[in-house]
Amino acid sequence: MSRLLTTALLLGQTFAYDTVLGFNSRPTVETRTIDEIYSAALKEGGTVTVWHGGDEKDQQDSLKSAFEKRFPGMTLNITVDLSKYLDSELDQQLYHNNVFVDSIVLQTLQDFPRWQQEGALLNYAPVGFDKVYPAFKDSISASWYGYSVFFWSLSWNTAKLPHVSNISSYSDFLKPEFKNQIVITYPNDDDAVLFAFYQIMQQLGTKWFDDLLKQNPRWVRGTATPFTILSGANYSQSATFTSFSGFNPGNNIKISFPTDANFVSWPQTAAILKDAPHPESAKLFHNFLLSSEFQKTLPLSARQDINSSSSPYHDIMHTPHTNPTAFARFMSDRVTVERVRFFFENRLGTAQGLSPLIDDI
Ligand SMILES: *[C@@H]1O[C@H](CO)[C@@H](O)[C@H](O)[C@H]1NC(C)=O
Ligand SMILES: *[C@@H]1O[C@H](CO)[C@@H](O)[C@H](O)[C@H]1NC(C)=O
Ligand SMILES: *[C@@H]1O[C@H](CO)[C@@H](O)[C@H](O)[C@H]1NC(C)=O
Ligand SMILES: *[C@@H]1O[C@H](CO)[C@@H](O)[C@H](O)[C@H]1NC(C)=O
Repeated sequence: MSRLLTTALLLGQTFAYDTVLGFNSRPTVETRTIDEIYSAALKEGGTVTVWHGGDEKDQQDSLKSAFEKRFPGMTLNITVDLSKYLDSELDQQLYHNNVFVDSIVLQTLQDFPRWQQEGALLNYAPVGFDKVYPAFKDSISASWYGYSVFFWSLSWNTAKLPHVSNISSYSDFLKPEFKNQIVITYPNDDDAVLFAFYQIMQQLGTKWFDDLLKQNPRWVRGTATPFTILSGANYSQSATFTSFSGFNPGNNIKISFPTDANFVSWPQTAAILKDAPHPESAKLFHNFLLSSEFQKTLPLSARQDINSSSSPYHDIMHTPHTNPTAFARFMSDRVTVERVRFFFENRLGTAQGLSPLIDDI
């Protein structure tokens, strides 16, 4: 009798311990068709609430319309805000047992393994999960995975810089023709920008930064802001290396990739909350994210079986001068992140100006 009781207690402890370390977290693997998931999502109410990291409110409007067009009757209730703020807001929901977000998609890659260990995420493999690059996912639990590779290129406005035929390096920005022409995001306001500067200066040293400051760059908040400014005829600045403009920006905008240091790229990472109030709708959204039909529309897919139709290098793993797995390591090393951030904050001061999420530039 007492022996039985001990066994029961031990078993109980084993289960609790599994939860603490994220052991025993084999996923449910989706086997339904997309239409079966779609009808389950509609029955649930037809709304999925998603928090997506970013720095402009309308940055995911195209994702919202693609999803809603593909699944009439569904609403993608998506909020874009800075990943560095959304993660702690989600922590509050988890702590208060009041999860109202179904799905979270962030740049703060260090959060996902922690949330997995805490048992906060749904262990669920959407169709296509097996095709995601192993380095971009938790292969065992299927609780989180990259869905799209984000990156910044070198971009410039040829109408404002008629004598510049190409930019092929970060050192090129130090040439006399770029004096007063550069617009860049504060590295101390965004860890992905911080990592961009870190990688450049690992190669080119502090001297490159000192020389960059002599070019009198315009410092801004948000990573879409430099592109807006360099594109606008009424702003004088014309070049950046902290904005995304796709592979074919058009409209007098040219892009290239640096050859003297790595540029930053990373898998923007998605997870469904274990206590998501609309689990079927969240599953529909994640199956859509990883579907080949949607992945083919992305500049750079997170799936190894899908080539980019616009990248000259076909896929991120064959793209020179970037390592898309390096950012997750940097983000997990908060001691280095803080040391590097305050190196820049000491030189530049705190980020000035309103965040573009609050008001336009
Ligand atoms: C939409 O998302 C917001 C922000 O997460 C949330 O406050 C709101 O309740 C959601 N709306 C619906 C209809 O679920
Ligand atoms: C611009 O420079 C990049 C990097 O060296 C190179 O890959 C690209 O072909 C160049 N483009 C042109 C138009 O010369
Ligand atoms: C430049 O033009 C844009 C678009 O018309 C406008 O939103 C912005 O306020 C203008 N900026 C300046 C500095 O005039
Ligand atoms: C992607 O493109 C490369 C280079 O053209 C080719 O070798 C490879 O087979 C393609 N992969 C897929 C999945 O289409």
